[in-house]
Amino acid sequence: MTDPDRPPRFTRLVFHGPLSEARADRIVRRLVRTGPATVLDIGCGWGELTLRVLEAAPGATAVGLDLDAEDLERGRRGAEARGLAGRVEFVRASAAEAARGPADLVLCVGSGHALASGEPPGHAAGALSKLRRLVSPGGRVLFGEGFWQRAPTTAELARMWPGASADDHPDLAGLVDTAVAAGFRPEWIETANEDEWEEFESGYLADVEEWLAVHPDHPLAAETRERADRHRAAWLTYRGVLGMAYLTLIPTP
Ligand SMILES: C[S@@+](CC[C@H](N)C(=O)[O-])C[C@H]1O[C@@H](n2cnc3c(N)ncnc32)[C@H](O)[C@@H]1O
Repeated sequence: MTDPDRPPRFTRLVFHGPLSEARADRIVRRLVRTGPATVLDIGCGWGELTLRVLEAAPGATAVGLDLDAEDLERGRRGAEARGLAGRVEFVRASAAEAARGPADLVLCVGSGHALASGEPPGHAAGALSKLRRLVSPGGRVLFGEGFWQRAPTTAELARMWPGASADDHPDLAGLVDTAVAAGFRPEWIETANEDEWEEFESGYLADVEEWLAVHPDHPLAAETRERADRHRAAWLTYRGVLGMAYLTLIPTP
């Protein structure tokens, strides 16, 4: 449902991150190989990946945790429309505080910060050590996390998010080493490609840009335009510099 008084939100996104349909299909097939009965999605947003896992693992049930009421409601509507409402609970709760798990499959995609209380550069390590405790023996974790494809320059950092620092992320090897140190073996290591980033970032802004084009004098237009311009400048700067890794992780005893 759209409210004409404010820009629509994320209607052009299937996933809240740089993830193609093809990669999502491959990930879901891999994650259900072990026959998960329980799924926990940390920082689930509208939980598209979890809904696809439930479709591919008919006996499984899931819990998604997020703070965003609107995204959770979108998740519930999606579950209802796909006949999954009885098998998934979308819960408004902070992932750092909610006592949930363990689960056979734990998803934490673009949400490591939701789990870790530590500031960068330790947040991936903090999130991974919590994920290690949340996954059942023999289960799987899907960890979607940022990494630097190359070291950002000072000028680039100044155009990214407020307070952006080279310490915000490790490189890919450092991220995988952190997962291993937290008690995992990497079953699969893959990273979003440029098309996935462009599809995501363009889709992220497209609703707002359309709205701005037809509501240039709306009372919210100036701040909305400023936010969109800042986001575009940031992503066109981190394009090719910031990566997104999808790690399928096996807990070690
Ligand atoms: C980039 S989105 C990813 C959403 C989803 N995992 C996906 O891939 O589509 C990050 C999500 O983390 C959620 N989040 C941030 N802090 C959180 C917290 N403390 N507890 C639960 N969720 C949180 C945000 O509301 C947002 O939905």
